[in-house]
Amino acid sequence: MTCVAAIVAFHMNWWEGRKFLEIPRPLDWLVVVNVLAFLFNILMTLFKGKRQTTTALVLAMGLLFTALLYLPGMIWFDNHTLDSFYRWYVVHLWVEGVWELIMGGILSFLLIKITGVDREVIEKWLYVIVGLTFLSGILGTGHHFYYIGAPSYWLWIGAIFSAMEPLAFLAMALFAIKMYRKGEKKHPNKTALQWTMGTAIVSFVGAGLLGAAHTLPNVNLYTHGTLVTAAHGHMAFWGAYAMIVFAIIAYAMPNLTGRKLYDNGITRSAFWFSNIGMVGMTSAFGAAGVAQVYMERIMGVEFMETQLEIQPHFLVLIICATVFSIGITLYLINFFQYGQPTDEALIQE
Ligand SMILES: [Fe+2]
Repeated sequence: MTCVAAIVAFHMNWWEGRKFLEIPRPLDWLVVVNVLAFLFNILMTLFKGKRQTTTALVLAMGLLFTALLYLPGMIWFDNHTLDSFYRWYVVHLWVEGVWELIMGGILSFLLIKITGVDREVIEKWLYVIVGLTFLSGILGTGHHFYYIGAPSYWLWIGAIFSAMEPLAFLAMALFAIKMYRKGEKKHPNKTALQWTMGTAIVSFVGAGLLGAAHTLPNVNLYTHGTLVTAAHGHMAFWGAYAMIVFAIIAYAMPNLTGRKLYDNGITRSAFWFSNIGMVGMTSAFGAAGVAQVYMERIMGVEFMETQLEIQPHFLVLIICATVFSIGITLYLINFFQYGQPTDEALIQE
């Protein structure tokens, strides 16, 4: 409901939010109520379990910090620099800090269930990932303070800690691959396995590598606010936010409904169409971004003129986005086809 209200208010221009925290500001309070209800629901479920595992604890910590870190974005500042400074606490610490805890928690749960490797082994890796995330992610916030009017020491802090940020994602990718190799490979749900491995690898490329590509201050001076960011952002969000959700749905739904979501070719097509489409989109954004940086920021060509010159890349983008959308549509078709709990499900089991 909050979401609907936010979208309506946003399009009606009743209230305005800010970049990346687009929700109209009065609705922030509704978000707080929603999040508290959500947290209560999840945490009570977790703590009702037989034993509290490291995986559950990391997930719970991630969710709790996500809620707490919404608060700096709610403070009102008249000064734009101060406002931007605290806004990045929310945006950066969410996407490059606590989300990695949530992602690590879900990933480790999936790997325990799917690969059959011992929980002790998997959770040891989880500690490493949490450690790397905190080490790099918190002070990595500095890469948003480069040119907003914050003190210049942020250039150094941002540069050093941002350079370490891909390590957490690299650890996650290596972790998933290592556990897959170690595992028995007997679990029938190959779809869940495919999305699990996919999320670990694509988030490393999209968030880790493409993030590091423009995170140093002397590179960012030229690339800030260009389509280079769009290239990184699309693949990072897809890998780290969307694919992990598809992975947990692919794993959980057959368990909840008894219907074999994974026993057909459509799920494999959904995976490949969406991922090939996303690689294409990222490449198109990347090519457009590099051309844009060179023309606009180095040659000094005017903004609109540059946009006209890089138009062919957007044609490629639309084609690849269509391929991507076909993949997502296939996933949804499969979801609705096999997602409803029915009598048939009970018979099958
Ligand atoms: Fe960031």
